[in-house]
Amino acid sequence: MTPQYVAAIDQGTTSSRCIVFDRAGDIVSVAQREHRQIFPRPGWVEHDAAEIWENVQLVVREALAAAGTDPGGLAAVGITNQRETTVVWDRATGQPVANAIVWQDTRTGPQLRELERGYGEQRLRERTGLILATYFAGPKLRWLLEHVDGLAERAERGEVLFGTMDSWLIWKLTGRHVTDVTNASRTMLMDLRTLDWDPELLDALGVPAAMLPQIHSSAEVYGTAGGVLEGVPVASALGDQQAALFGQTCFQAGEAKCTYGTGSFLLLNTGTGPVTSSHGLLTTVAYRIEGQPAVYALEGAIAVTGSLVQWLRDNLGLISTAGEVEELARTVEDNGGCYVVPAFSGLFAPHWRPDARGVIAGLTGYITKGHLARAVLEASAWQTREVVDAMNADSDVALRRLRVDGGMTANELLMQFLADVLTVPVVRSRITETTCLGAAYAAGLAVGFWPDLATLRAQWRSDAQWESAMDPGDRERELHQWRKAVRRTLDWVE
Ligand code: G3P
Repeated sequence: MTPQYVAAIDQGTTSSRCIVFDRAGDIVSVAQREHRQIFPRPGWVEHDAAEIWENVQLVVREALAAAGTDPGGLAAVGITNQRETTVVWDRATGQPVANAIVWQDTRTGPQLRELERGYGEQRLRERTGLILATYFAGPKLRWLLEHVDGLAERAERGEVLFGTMDSWLIWKLTGRHVTDVTNASRTMLMDLRTLDWDPELLDALGVPAAMLPQIHSSAEVYGTAGGVLEGVPVASALGDQQAALFGQTCFQAGEAKCTYGTGSFLLLNTGTGPVTSSHGLLTTVAYRIEGQPAVYALEGAIAVTGSLVQWLRDNLGLISTAGEVEELARTVEDNGGCYVVPAFSGLFAPHWRPDARGVIAGLTGYITKGHLARAVLEASAWQTREVVDAMNADSDVALRRLRVDGGMTANELLMQFLADVLTVPVVRSRITETTCLGAAYAAGLAVGFWPDLATLRAQWRSDAQWESAMDPGDRERELHQWRKAVRRTLDWVE
């Protein structure tokens, strides 16, 4: 039987999903399972990689059954994943040696200070494109090597292996120990230009090369799966935000997407050369197709957007579902002079201030819950504006339009306000599951299921577009007020 479908596995922060796509890039079936969030201490976040592997096998079985197919119906499977989360496992038993340390975990302050002293912040930025922050994988691996009994010696002997979630799943599926350039670019161990592990960085972090996966392109056959995907080529791996850029078919320099989930991640394709940011953005690999040069991106990572709406629901009880925020915000004409800056765990891009704390500014007796709801939505748009301003300042390719996806893009009031403050059109894609779609596209390209990027591009459709309609004077006044509120969060240091 000729395979009709390509599947994608999205191993995310809160759940694992499998989606089966047909040749038109339409969704045939979806299955999803949540896994435990383990919080051993304040600021620490862990996952059980063995539980995640069980869930991945379950969702693959469920998605195939729902599509009415079996592994024989798949031309390929692609992997996309939460980035930076760090797993170490035993090569012989296939069991994790400790819980995985999640990207949100902030325990690696001491490892970062050591890296700053031994390697230097500026040099680190130039070599890896990253900022000295607890977000990335290498210092998490260092922490495990320091704190798990006997691990450093076992790593030297090649008895234990390191990987981000892509690596862990590919190893479980195929027995090969590989990663892709997009995931490797979030480790703080890879040279952004050579696209290989950097011996000086390995030395500075005390990471034995014997435990590292081989770095490959994002779209090639890494191996053939056994078990639940018996016989299927595992043919792509991309970090989830890069996969969303690929699924949005932002293949040309100057094209950008922003995914609105718990946080928001805006990636701008900058072409085949890395652009170093001097305005608080990360330089990262967007994707590399086998045999072609790597394509790079500038990334603005915003920690809190959708989770601010959840906070309004769970902590303040002002709404009972996240979707209700739009209705509540529409009960008023404007924000009534109120601004919410959600620096819940400091501010990420472009400020990178872990010590900032959130504020609600401009409160008067006039403010209702409607105004608060409006200010909450506006905060997502203004944070995006700050990232876009930083991008335009860093890159000689100015943003012309922004493609958006993710759960929050169902909120049309937010989408209009976003277009108003960005002053470029905001375009929502028809398929909002762009993360899985990007991994499926890359895998399908690698096995010839789709012939080329142009074919994928031709499949992209928008379902709605918003244009800026705000009076320029009002926009400038609001921007000024937002900036004042942000300054308060930087004063309010912990
Ligand atoms: O860098 C973190 C990002 O990859 C997490 O994405 O969608 O799993 O929360 P998500």
